[in-house]
Amino acid sequence: MKKLIEPNKNCSKCRRLYNFRKKNQSKNPDWFNAPVPTFGELSSSLLIVGLAPGLQGANKTGRPFTGDYAGDLLYKTINKFNFSKGKYAGTIDDSLKLKNCTITNAVRCVPPQNKPISEEINNCNNFLKKTIEIHKNLKVIIALGLIAHKSIISAFNLKQKLYKFKHGNKHKIDNFILIDSYHCSRYNTNTRRLNEEMFEKIFFEAKKELKI
Ligand code: URA
Repeated sequence: MKKLIEPNKNCSKCRRLYNFRKKNQSKNPDWFNAPVPTFGELSSSLLIVGLAPGLQGANKTGRPFTGDYAGDLLYKTINKFNFSKGKYAGTIDDSLKLKNCTITNAVRCVPPQNKPISEEINNCNNFLKKTIEIHKNLKVIIALGLIAHKSIISAFNLKQKLYKFKHGNKHKIDNFILIDSYHCSRYNTNTRRLNEEMFEKIFFEAKKELKI
């Protein structure tokens, strides 16, 4: 059976992220503090790509977007559009299950200040590439933010300048559609770059493309 290829729990490809993880491990030994694996089903036709685990969210719980503000908005929206069942409670042992949907990050380890550097984004790109490749039914990818968008373009070895990031933009790549969205971070909603209605429109468009 095909399995997702995930970074080693002790991955040290990125020295800075490795050291940051080690520091967090000694500060909070009961947190996950490791590369956060992809969440979802290999049969999914929708893939959502985030930036990187939040320090007190996915890095603590071990599941993408779980336990922080961005996750509250993402999981609420996913549920509204019927891509999940069960109840999201911000912990890895809640009853939430994704339906026809997978969530991953462009960078698997928590970066200081939520900002991975180019080398770290590049080091992790092969995991994103493999994640996309293994989802054989994939029809739509939602990129949450510019770094997720660029990472997807890189995973396909395409020219960045031919694929401009803009909230709501759609790009045809291979046999799927990439939809760009602003990241559902607290910063973006606080500064009103993104609101719930704008975010829901992205999922509305995704459903339209999926013809469901
Ligand atoms: N949590 C994640 O897993 N990814 C993000 O991009 C933000 C929060």
